[in-house]
This record gives sequence, structure tokens and C-alpha cells, in this order.
Amino acid sequence: MENIKIAVIGATGLVGQTVLKVLEEKNLPISEYAFLASKRSCNKKILFFGKEYIVKELTDTSFDENFNYAIFCAGSEVSRKFAPIATSKGCIVIDNSSYFRMDYNVPLIVPEVNPEDIKNHHGIIANPNCSTIQAVVALKPLDDNYSIKRIVYSTYQAVSGAGYKGVMDLKNGISNFLATNDGIDLLKNSNQNYELQKFPLPIFSNCLPHIDVFLENGYTKEEEKMINETRKILKKPNLKITATTVRVPVFNSHSECINVEFEKDFNLYDLKGILKSSPGIILKDDFQDEVYPTTLDTNGQDKVFVGRVRRDYSVKFGINLWVVADNVRKGAASNAVQILERLI
Ligand SMILES: NC(=O)c1ccc[n+]([C@@H]2O[C@H](COP(=O)([O-])OP(=O)(O)OC[C@H]3O[C@@H](n4cnc5c(N)ncnc54)[C@H](OP(=O)(O)O)[C@@H]3O)[C@@H](O)[C@H]2O)c1
Repeated sequence: MENIKIAVIGATGLVGQTVLKVLEEKNLPISEYAFLASKRSCNKKILFFGKEYIVKELTDTSFDENFNYAIFCAGSEVSRKFAPIATSKGCIVIDNSSYFRMDYNVPLIVPEVNPEDIKNHHGIIANPNCSTIQAVVALKPLDDNYSIKRIVYSTYQAVSGAGYKGVMDLKNGISNFLATNDGIDLLKNSNQNYELQKFPLPIFSNCLPHIDVFLENGYTKEEEKMINETRKILKKPNLKITATTVRVPVFNSHSECINVEFEKDFNLYDLKGILKSSPGIILKDDFQDEVYPTTLDTNGQDKVFVGRVRRDYSVKFGINLWVVADNVRKGAASNAVQILERLI
């Protein structure tokens, strides 16, 4: 077997660290690893498969080392600059950032949904947005069977989706609350006078209908990403979709309420059976016993959990779904490693 060399870019971040964990779990036939980040983390030590690795600074010459594959987890700017350098040296890039996702020449892949598109790559394969990944895993089998006509997304997204700084904003908010409030005066919640690292407003005890930047049409970029990426992955460029994405004070795993309208009629029992037998889905749905998925079920898992499946009586053929998944694992790291696994 050929010697396979892999580089993880952004190896010190939330997604990068999880990529390492997933690589250890999968133990793929890879002979050499390199871990890169910015100058800030250069020379930091990483323990991987029980061996100590030194983090290297990402530079213009980093890809002279003949890597076969690189998983990029360092944001759009880094991908924009360094992914083309990597591909010019023959390295195949799996990119977690949003930079190349809508590029016609870049397949946008969720292995349970459109693995057949991987072969169309020209050196870069994009991982979709975390909230899109979990949604399309649930929606693809329903589209195949009942043809989706319209989607309304409402998301409840964890702070880990914004990386380490997002997690720190919630942690600091909790510490500040405990230090300044005896737990009785609830109005004091709004008096959060600590420095925010990521969010525009305090996230502790708050919900922010604002993920990524605002666009001219009043939507946020996160909402636009969900709409465009869903259309690309489902290969339905004109599908009617709208979205409201909200950051909530949950550490990890995104929840989504998805309202779907179909072209065709369905039997709810059969529809649940389809979800249950589709790849990557755990159906956790029994309202009579108060069974439904929550973020605490999904943390640390690679499956997409679906529950609260019920008919939407306000339209002819519609349903509501509650879809929960670990945004750092299935929404980023595990999806990227699944793509790598298929490439290898
Ligand atoms: N968090 C999620 O749920 C999620 C889901 C889907 C996709 N993503 C995407 O995954 C990427 C990483 O997100 P994250 O949540 O892991 O963020 P993070 O925790 O903030 O980590 C960012 C990583 O990028 C590195 N980095 C930053 N600037 C760099 C530069 N100039 N050169 C090299 N490395 C640099 C950082 O290294 P230092 O240690 O040196 O700062 C760190 O390793 C982003 O593109 C994000 O949009 C995240």
C-alpha cells in the first residue's frame, strides 16, 4: 500500500482537535501525519496515537512536503489562500470552511447523501455548513420518496459552532452570573459586564437570531448558507427554502425544527419507517412516552437524531421534524473524515 501522508490545518481548534479524535477512532491506513496552525500555536505539543507531535506554522511552503490529503479547519481566509497552494502540489483538500462550498467545481459532500459527487472533484472537496449537514441527512430520504416542495428551517445552534471563542463567551457568562447573582434576582441576567470574545451580545441566558454577518436582504449569511447548500446537495436549484438561524446558550450540538412540504402524499407510519432505515439517522420519536432527541443525546456521536415527526395540518402534504446532531463531529470533523475514508 502506498504511504499516505495527511496534514490537518487548524489542528489546535475545536474542529481540528475533533478531527484528530475521529482519526484515532477510525485508525485509517495513514502512515504520516502533520499538524499545522497559526504562528500563535507553533511548537505546541499534540498527543496523537500516544505519540507527541509538534504543531507547525502554516506557511506558503508547508505543502512542499507532498501530502496526499489535507483537512482544512482554520476558517475561510486560510482556505482561500492555502487550499490552492495545496492542490497545486497534488494534495487533495477537504475543506471545512464556507469559502469554496458554492463553487461549481467543488463538490459539497455529505457521505450519507451524495457520495457519488466526490468523484467530480478538481482537488478540493467541501464539507457543508454544520446545520446543513444534519438537515440534509434527514431530508434526503424524504425527498427521494415524497419530493420536497418547500422547507422552513428554524435552528437552535450551540456556541461550539462558533469555535473556542464562542465556548468561552458562554463559560464566562456563566461564571459572571454565578459570581454576581445569588440566583434569585433574574433581572441581573442582563447585567453581563465581561468582555465578549465572539458574539455581538451576551449569549448566557440569551438567544441571538444572528449567526455570521447580516446580508443586504436582512438574512444572515448562516441562513443563506443553509438555503444555498441544501439546494446544491439535493440537486434542486430552485427549491423553495427559508431559514431563521439562532444561537442559543447550549455548549454543543445543534437542534433544528424543520417544516417540510411535499409534492406527494405520505403515510406518517411509512415516512417514519423510511427515516429509521436511512443511513446516518437515529429515529427517537415516541411522543406517548415523551421520547424525543436532545443535545445531550447527541454529544460525541456521529448520527443525526430525528424526533417529533408529525403532520403539518396547515398544508396539504407537510410535516414537522426535530433534528439534533453534534455540530463539531457530524457537522464538521466526522463528516470530513468520512470523506477522507472514501477517498482513501
Ligand atoms: N465549530 C463548528 O461546529 C464548525 C462546524 C462546521 C464548520 N466549521 C468550520 O471549521 C473551521 C474551524 O472552526 P473551529 O470551530 O474549529 O474554530 P476555532 O476553534 O476557532 O479554531 C480555529 C483554528 O484555525 C487555526 N487558525 C486560525 N488562523 C490561522 C492561520 N492564519 N493559519 C493557520 N491556522 C490558523 C487556529 O490556530 P491557532 O491555535 O494558531 O489560533 C485554530 O487551530 C471554520 O472554518 C469553521 O467555519 C466549524
